Amino acid sequence: MYQEFTAGAGVIFGCGAISILGEKLAELGCRKALLVFDRGVERAGIIKRAAASLDASGVAFATFDGVIADPPDAVVDAAGAAAIAAGADCLVGIGGGSSMDTAKAAAILLSGNSGPVKNYILARPISVNTTVPVVLVPTTAGTGSEATRVAIISRPDENAKWSVNVNTTLAIVDPELTVGLPPETTAHTGLDALAHATEAYTSNAANIHSDLYALGAIRKIAESLVLSYKHPENIDYRSEMAIAANWAGMAFRDPLTHMGHAIGDALSVEFHTPHGQSCALGLAEVMRFVAPHAPERMADIASALGIALNGGESGEKLGDLVADAIYGLMRAMNVKSLQQLGATREQVTGLAKAVAGSHLSSYCPTEVTEARAEEVLGRVFDGYR
Ligand SMILES: [Fe+2]
Repeated sequence: MYQEFTAGAGVIFGCGAISILGEKLAELGCRKALLVFDRGVERAGIIKRAAASLDASGVAFATFDGVIADPPDAVVDAAGAAAIAAGADCLVGIGGGSSMDTAKAAAILLSGNSGPVKNYILARPISVNTTVPVVLVPTTAGTGSEATRVAIISRPDENAKWSVNVNTTLAIVDPELTVGLPPETTAHTGLDALAHATEAYTSNAANIHSDLYALGAIRKIAESLVLSYKHPENIDYRSEMAIAANWAGMAFRDPLTHMGHAIGDALSVEFHTPHGQSCALGLAEVMRFVAPHAPERMADIASALGIALNGGESGEKLGDLVADAIYGLMRAMNVKSLQQLGATREQVTGLAKAVAGSHLSSYCPTEVTEARAEEVLGRVFDGYR
């Protein structure tokens, strides 16, 4: 049995790192960039900082500010058209997962592949060999999109979130960019990172490389997420979370995530809840569900979360301990429950078919049948109110 693991794009990490964006683009031979972002990132003053860096390095740029949450394929088509019209030779995604994923998917079109982009956004993602440089600058500590190949794009025609794999060139992870995040976004995106790490660690495609990143990320998140929520201006906590989210992205790069994200995607499509919040809501019960099938791995996760073990715990017990710890983090950060969001139990259990049918569920360490998915979804609704 062989394992395959790949390294992500290079990462420049540190406070103020956005100031060398222009220099790095120039080194890559880029002459004109398209900056891809949403209006919130612009309002936070982050685009001004990126633009100043490009100006200082003599790299021209155009902007695309049309990114929206859970970007649909039409937004990617618009970004790709903007890049081509501007004569851009590279893409820079600045923001959360939506901006970075839009830039990643738009690279398909800027690389000369014919559109519309939805031809490449499929339920079981294919890899497209994009050729233009894609530089990613996360402004949240959660998605890890800067470390992965995958771009997750909404397909409104299919009422689904599907994906495509592309090449990325460089990540610039600057914790200062996360300081202004609203507390709710800090909580949701941080829990998304925890979902990446714990699902990657229990994925049936986990490898010795992804394991290192996963456990490292879980430790840092356990130590710093609630503190960064409570002390948003503290750059040390923000730095720990920024690198933890990047590691969690590296963790799921090859083994992917599994049933937690299948549930997260289904909730997000049904209730239009943000990705991080949706994935957080499913995570605890998914860990409880998989624990008896991966007890040693669940013991590692429990230890990384700071839970004291005596070594004799059963898989079931370990699942309960980890689920309780996740709910504890959610309560400490006032994450709303599905009930508080106005969802009914029937609506939630009605997502069982979508969860069982998601390609991500095939990475779960035990089979996700529709009946099992329905049972877990019921517990997701009942377990956190
Ligand atoms: Fe995620």
